[in-house]
Amino acid sequence: MRILLIGATGTIGKAIAAALGRRHEVLLASRQQAPLQVDIADPASIRGLYAKVGKVGAVISAAGEARFKPLDELSDADFRFSLDSKLMGQVNVVRYGLGSVPPEVFGSTW
Ligand SMILES: NC(=O)c1ccc[n+]([C@@H]2O[C@H](COP(=O)([O-])OP(=O)(O)OC[C@H]3O[C@@H](n4cnc5c(N)ncnc54)[C@H](OP(=O)(O)O)[C@@H]3O)[C@@H](O)[C@H]2O)c1
Repeated sequence: MRILLIGATGTIGKAIAAALGRRHEVLLASRQQAPLQVDIADPASIRGLYAKVGKVGAVISAAGEARFKPLDELSDADFRFSLDSKLMGQVNVVRYGLGSVPPEVFGSTW
C-alpha cells in the first residue's frame, strides 16, 4: 500500500516509517527535513502535498506542535499557533485528504 506519513522525521514518525517501510511504500513528509515538505498549519501547503502525491491507501499524521508555558504567560499568538498546528492541522490533514484515499477508509459516517 502507498502510505503518506506526515511527521516522518520525528521520534514517533521514524518508528512508524521503520515498522511500515518493510511491507509498504511509505511517502515521507515533514515540515523541513523529509523528502516531501508540508506545513500542516498552512492549508495551502496541505493541499499542495496531496496534489503532489496523488492517490494513497492511507494517511498517518505524527506531527503537530503546541506552545507550553504557565497559563498566565501564554499569549493570544501562542494559543493561535497551537490551535493552527495541533488542532486545525490534524483536522485539515483529514479534510483535504478525503479525495486522496479510498472512500472505505472513512467508513459510512463520512
Ligand atoms: N513523543 C511522545 O511521547 C508524544 C506523546 C504524546 C503526543 N505526542 C505528539 O505526537 C506528535 C509527534 O511527536 P514526536 O515526539 O514524534 O515529535 P517530534 O520528534 O518533535 O517530531 C515532530 C515531527 O513533526 C514534524 N512537524 C512539526 N510541525 C510540523 C508542521 N507544522 N507541519 C508538518 N510537519 C511538522 C517535524 O518535521 P521537521 O522535523 O521536518 O520540522 C517532525 O517530523 C506531536 O504532535 C506530539 O505532540 C508525542
